[in-house]
Amino acid sequence: MSASLNYPKAVSIVEVGPRDGLQNESAPLSTGDKVALVEGLVDAGLRYVETGSFVNPRWIPQMADSGDVFQQIARVPDVTYAALTPNLKGFDRAMDAGASEVAVFAAASESFSQRNINCSISESIERFLPVMEAAKTSGVKVRGYVSCVLGCPYEGEIAPAAVLKVSQALLDMGCYEISLGDTIGTGTPGSMDTLLNALVPSLTAGRLALHCHNSYGQALANLLVGLQYGIRRIDSSVAGLGGCPYATGASGNVATEDVVYMLQGMGIQTGVNLNALVNVGTDCCKKLGRETQSAVAKARG
Ligand code: HMG
Ligand code: MG
Repeated sequence: MSASLNYPKAVSIVEVGPRDGLQNESAPLSTGDKVALVEGLVDAGLRYVETGSFVNPRWIPQMADSGDVFQQIARVPDVTYAALTPNLKGFDRAMDAGASEVAVFAAASESFSQRNINCSISESIERFLPVMEAAKTSGVKVRGYVSCVLGCPYEGEIAPAAVLKVSQALLDMGCYEISLGDTIGTGTPGSMDTLLNALVPSLTAGRLALHCHNSYGQALANLLVGLQYGIRRIDSSVAGLGGCPYATGASGNVATEDVVYMLQGMGIQTGVNLNALVNVGTDCCKKLGRETQSAVAKARG
């Protein structure tokens, strides 16, 4: 690779398939199959798996059994089994289930915030305060998501300044990292460049991760821009599962198989065994009765 681009030796992958993927699948997956999915992902080498969420089960019925999933998985040391928690009730449920760490989720768009978590951006920050307090007391790390960083299904374009403001607020309240969500996958290398140019100087690349949905097929290109800015953490979903229930038309995250294939080709380590990962994705898609969204898995038949 060109030395001037300064790519890293290793990148860590945040596997979000069991949460972001399955939360939007119409076919239900049994608790046992979810447990097998998480265990398969860890066996394939993933070291951070977002295993479920503790939200209102009336809003997201697919995640209603997250507590059982957390309790039934055979844990591997040094693996982070993370949970999404919108409020203190969610945090308490996550702790009862034995989540290793939690994530709070805000948005850079007011309309999306209302549709997704039923409150304004500033109200959401207030709701997170007791979560941050409780997490600090329990010694639990908190990740912060910001949705709609490159576009909103209700408001269209989002100003980088809006993303900067909410990201800074989450970091200030104690999140160790911000995952920048291109929730509807409309971003391009151009808009990603503009966003990171506005964010990286003050927030620093080491505190940012990228979470790209692949609706417009731009995710890998967008991630490459992120790598060039020094970002070393990438969220992805095995088989490109899922989407967002509050973002019509949004497809799943970029497929983990495709991210691993690209990084391997660049000589960047991920610790993931690609063949094993493809098998996990194929097996899960069979159970869901859907086609994989991973180009790598499709090419390998
Ligand atoms: P609300 O209705 O405003 O909450 O919902 P509330 O505090 O008024 O409570 C209403 C009811 O919900 C009560 O029950 C609470 O107990 C219950 P009732 O008294 O009516 O029987 N409740 C809960 N139950 C279980 N666990 C909880 C919980 N909290 C309240 N934690 C709330 C607010 C946030 C709860 C709701 O809007 C919700 O659950 N939303 C789900 C949002 C969600 O999961 N969206 C998908 C994930 S975000 C995403 O995908 C984007 C991301 O991937 C990044 C990207 O791509 O951009 C992260
Ligand atoms: Mg997402």
